[in-house]
This record gives sequence, structure tokens and C-alpha cells, in this order.
Amino acid sequence: MEGLMPAESLVEHVTGQLLRLCRVTGTDAAEPARLVADLLGEAGRRALAAGPAWSSDVADDHSPVEFSVAFDRGGPPALRLLAEAAVADPAVPADLTPALAFLHRQAGRHRLDLARLEQVRDLFTTDRPQGLFGMWHSLILRDVPEFKVYLNPEIHGVARSGPLVREALGRLGAGPAYRGVRERALRPADRLTFFALDLTDCDTARIKLYVSQHDAGLDDVARAAAVVPGVDPAEVTAFCELATGSAGPYDRRPIIASYTFAPGAAAPIGYSVYVPIRSYVADDREAHDRAGALLVRHGFDPGALEAAVSAVSRRPLGDGAGLIAHVSLRVGPPRPGLSVYLSSEAYSVGAPQPLRIPAAS
Ligand code: TRP
Repeated sequence: MEGLMPAESLVEHVTGQLLRLCRVTGTDAAEPARLVADLLGEAGRRALAAGPAWSSDVADDHSPVEFSVAFDRGGPPALRLLAEAAVADPAVPADLTPALAFLHRQAGRHRLDLARLEQVRDLFTTDRPQGLFGMWHSLILRDVPEFKVYLNPEIHGVARSGPLVREALGRLGAGPAYRGVRERALRPADRLTFFALDLTDCDTARIKLYVSQHDAGLDDVARAAAVVPGVDPAEVTAFCELATGSAGPYDRRPIIASYTFAPGAAAPIGYSVYVPIRSYVADDREAHDRAGALLVRHGFDPGALEAAVSAVSRRPLGDGAGLIAHVSLRVGPPRPGLSVYLSSEAYSVGAPQPLRIPAAS
């Protein structure tokens, strides 16, 4: 029968998942589908069987798309998409050109405010970009989609990320708040992984810095959270313990923290913690059960997670690890809550990890 059915393409695979997820969250799917088609462009038409056109770091299997469901206090769950616009030259994945072209195509239609991005863009631009990405997009798929961009602080190399972030936050009016973070929270092993800007509505638009806390213990996790006024470090450490099933140290994929800055504020105004749960489970069944328990603990309906997981994949959860890639806890404004990140698994499924139980001898 070969040849009768055209091979499934990347954009077909992702759009199918997106349409089913939109049904779960009650989102109109027309605009989300258009955005995905624009992001992937020509690369979207490539057959899945041909493998990824470039090694996107958005997901472990190099799918350039990852979904997430954000559970907020006082509102229905929101569907979000993290995506990388198709890169032009797989040898230079950190080239910003395709990502900026996507933004400029969407700017008018979605009234994006690019002013802040323009204030710092030169810092993240180089002829010889380093690292695994230059710019990623986050789309919150509400009735009017909200856009965010992630820039790479390590684009000039890891060693220059500190001064780069300091300059960028200084230009945006967050210098004093960042000084507190630097002096009281950052550890030598930490990496500055993402610098993110909301592109909508400049008054409430946030500036975020993501820190990868390599080999952190619970004391490090608590210290990083404690610099943000109003954040209870014990809430953050409890979340990490429950999500990983371990009291640390977290020596597999790192826990990631994010600080939210507002121009002129003397301290960060928000904090989130992201746990790469896939590195701390045997398989997705375990990840699913832990994520469900966390939702219940924080007062959310785990039914929506169930439905979202089925919208993305029908495979038995025990057959792989990584469909549920991260879980995160947002503390403080503007929207406290919990998010669960779901891999597209367009190209492959991560193998279940054998339980690390000492062998009986
Ligand atoms: N795949 C990368 C990682 O796992 C980047 C990434 C994708 C990420 N989605 C994320 C990081 C959500 C933190 C939270 O690190």
C-alpha cells in the first residue's frame, strides 16, 4: 500500500495536536494553526520520516515545538506554545534572522510592541552566534494571542553572559533589582539560559531572566527564591521535592528558576521554578501521576491535564519518558499557578529509564 498515503509532515503532526489541544482549552484554533504554519514555513512540509531539518533544542527529539498548559488562579487553563522559527542554516542555529522575520510578519496583525526588544537587540546580535538557539517564541493562545520572545544570553559565549544580562537589564530599568539577585542568589555553577520579553502591552509587559541551577541542592533552590519579596521558599522547595520525588541534589537536568522584573522596581516582582521532571522519573506514567498530584495540591482540576495529554499522544504513558517534559510553579504576579509542558514527540519518544534500585546480590 506504500505510496497511497502521503507521509505525515511536521506541520500536519503539530497542527493535529494543536487542534485537539484547542478543544481541551476551548480556544479557537484558526489563528494558532496559522501561527504554527508561519513559524515552520517550508520546513513544516518536510516529512517526519526525513527527520528534523535542524537540531532544535526546544525539545529532546529536536521537535521545534513544545506545548504547555498553564493553570491559573481564577481562570480556565491556557494553552501555550514554545516554538523556534525554522532556521535557515542548520550550522548556525543561533542566527536571529528567521525569528525576527516571523515577528515582523506578525507585528501588525497582533499589534506587537517591539520597543523593548529594539532597546536590547544589538546586545544579542553577532555575526558569529554561539549556542543552540538565538530566539525562541512563546505564544499564549488566548482569544487574542500573546507573544513573548526568548533571547540567548550565551550568544557571545558563556563567559560573556553575565555582563550581557547586566547591560540588558540596566537598559530596561531593572539594574538595581538584578544587582540583588546577582549578589544574593546566583551561584558560580548557575548559567543564564534565557532572557525573555513580553511583546504585548508595555505597561504590564514583563522582563524575565532564567537561571539554570546546575547540581543545586534544596538549600540553593530556597536561597534563589528567597530574594523575591513575597515568595515563600518552602513552597518552592516542596514543589521541587514532589516533582522530582527527591530531596536533591538535582544532578540530572538542572532545575531552572526565573526572575520577573518590572522597570523601576527595586526587587524582582515574580518568581517561577521549572522542574525537568522527565529526568527524574522512570516513565511518563510516573510523571503524569506526580503532575496530577501537584495540580490537586494547588487546587486545580487534574482532568484538564488528562485531556491535554491524550490530545498530544495516544501512546501508553509507560512506553516512554519525556512526553511530560517539565512542570513549573509560578509564584507572585501577574498569574500565580502551575504549568505542565508537553512534548510533541514529532521525531522520537525518549526511552523509559530503568529504576535505579541497587541490585540485590
Ligand atoms: N529543551 C530545553 C530544556 O529542556 C529548553 C526548554 C524547552 C525549557 N521548554 C522548557 C526549559 C521549559 C525550561 C522550561 O532545557
